[in-house]
Amino acid sequence: MIFQSMNGFALAAETIHRHSPAPKMGSQHSSMSITNKQWQACKKCLEDGDFEGAGVSLSRMQKAADSLTKFRPHKNKEMMDDFREQSDNFKKNLSALSKAIREKDKARTQSLSQVIDNSCLQCHSVFR
Ligand code: HEC
Repeated sequence: MIFQSMNGFALAAETIHRHSPAPKMGSQHSSMSITNKQWQACKKCLEDGDFEGAGVSLSRMQKAADSLTKFRPHKNKEMMDDFREQSDNFKKNLSALSKAIREKDKARTQSLSQVIDNSCLQCHSVFR
């Protein structure tokens, strides 16, 4: 239910922003909306001990994270070095989680999930 309404929000937001001159707006929204959906799914799979499902969701997040290099944040645009650093750390943590999932290392998937949750919050607090 929550995901459906988030979808609706993402679509509405894209329609409103269509006239904006900023490039890649639509892909920023969709990349983050994929990230959000797949992250919820990944964490749910990890809770249920479904490493295979978690791996599938995580690989979709990793694809979406590739487009962070093309992001033009609306806030604090002048801090692009910081944005790149946060993006790189985020991607490194996704890779580390992918490895922990392949190794079915439950404790490590839990600690990395916390680290990744913090990356979402940290980047949003500055750039979103
Ligand atoms: C390196 C920075 C960065 C990281 C890491 C990051 N985000 Fe974002 N996120 C952004 C920015 C910037 C926006 C605003 C995009 C826009 O408005 O075009 C955003 C927007 C969003 C949105 C709103 C989507 C929309 O329709 O605009 C959601 C949901 C979201 N992020 C979820 C997440 C989740 C979940 C994570 C972690 C798993 C995450 N983000 C990690 C930078 C980041």
